[in-house]
Amino acid sequence: GMKTVVFPVAGLGTRFLPATKAVPKEMLPVVDKPLIQYAVEEAVSAGAETLIFVTGRTKNAIADHFDTAYELETELASKNKNDLLEIAQSVVPKNVSCLYVRQSQPLGLGHAILCAKPMVQESVFGVILPDDLIYNPQSPALAQLAQHHGQTGSSVVSVSEVRPEHVSRYGVVDAPSFEGRSGRLQGIVEKPNPEDAPSNLAVVGRYVLSSEIFSILENTEADHRGEIQITDAIATLLKHHPVDAYRFEGQQFDCGNKLGFLQATVTLGTKHAEVGEAFADWLNQIEH
Ligand code: G1P
Repeated sequence: GMKTVVFPVAGLGTRFLPATKAVPKEMLPVVDKPLIQYAVEEAVSAGAETLIFVTGRTKNAIADHFDTAYELETELASKNKNDLLEIAQSVVPKNVSCLYVRQSQPLGLGHAILCAKPMVQESVFGVILPDDLIYNPQSPALAQLAQHHGQTGSSVVSVSEVRPEHVSRYGVVDAPSFEGRSGRLQGIVEKPNPEDAPSNLAVVGRYVLSSEIFSILENTEADHRGEIQITDAIATLLKHHPVDAYRFEGQQFDCGNKLGFLQATVTLGTKHAEVGEAFADWLNQIEH
């Protein structure tokens, strides 16, 4: 099974300036958890035991977040604040290892994933882009993909339908015949013009990939933006290895932009165990 998940987190987060001047965008909280922690919890519930963060300068807060916070924990323990101590200590389970590697140049998502190559020991691994928050507490999205991989042996990319005028923001798949939630990929293109798009099924930030992708990435040319795209590598992979598009179940938020981030905050806020009810009541009042 899939035991390793890669988190590309080297991006600068300029869309959230000034909030992201000194704080990595992945550390911005949705209600009370940083974005990256939602991604990590999803990976762990999909069976991951090794988490690889592809970071950059200015991203040390991410490593600190998943490390022991000695002073804080000592302080909470001495005051018998056990509930808070438990929260601080359970950001990542004890059997899970966190590894960090730097992407020293902004050469694109494919290059970021390639940076994890020396640390990936298995023949298959997962990728989560933390900007894409997918809410499904019963069945986390990456676990759905991992299960499909387990049943078929295929590599898997998560997709969802987008409005035709929005296809140019995403990787877009050509998967003409779906059975249930999955369809074999025949092609995939990065950010096509709407008139050239093979479908309106866009890639959302979850992948289960054969480690063959690494040697393909090493031979994938940068695109016109100077970036090595994972999409282009997948387009090569599918020529000799089965890759499936998988329509996951769950509510998806693009937390890479302000509107999506606000929508996630409101939706998860109304579901929050502590403040959800009060927040939903208040929302109802201000709406009318
Ligand atoms: C990346 C991928 C794209 C995918 C998207 C999902 O694009 O290159 O194929 O659809 O993530 O969020 P980015 O959002 O980094 O421009």
